[in-house]
Amino acid sequence: MAEQRLLFVCLGNICRSPAAEGMFLHLVAQEGLEDQFLVDSAGTGGWHAGNLPDRRMRAAAERRGIHLPSRARQIQPADLTSFDRILTMDADNLRAVRSLAATEVAGGSLELALIEPMTSHCRRFSDAEVPDPYYGGEAGFEHVLDLLEDACSGLLATLRPG
Ligand code: 4NP
Repeated sequence: MAEQRLLFVCLGNICRSPAAEGMFLHLVAQEGLEDQFLVDSAGTGGWHAGNLPDRRMRAAAERRGIHLPSRARQIQPADLTSFDRILTMDADNLRAVRSLAATEVAGGSLELALIEPMTSHCRRFSDAEVPDPYYGGEAGFEHVLDLLEDACSGLLATLRPG
């Protein structure tokens, strides 16, 4: 089966989406499915481009055995056609990516990525969004990881080959 291309998107690409990327890759590696997925993350904003994820997010992920080595980048119009599926963390991200997609459609692009909220894949939590943890305390980062663990395992259950 062809590799599936997934892009996780938040605002800054230093907290939620790199954690989603690392969490999904962690689950994929546990099942030996690395060659089935191409995974990346991006921010709707570009202020942190080139930076590692926030040290609080990295520390919280490391405590769960998940490494976050990605570097921040801003989403580009070309991402709408080079990925199969774009997973957004909150309603603002969803609006921003949909607006980028509308511009691409107006420009004549035909095959665009499916755009959907990350929490639509949760099976345990009923939260509508993965909340921005940036200005909060440590518990916020743990809640983000709990939500992402749930959503990533639901997403993998949907996409797992066979
Ligand atoms: P993220 O969190 O969108 O999960 O990466 C944020 C990181 C930085 C900022 C906001 C949210 N910021 O305003 O710099």
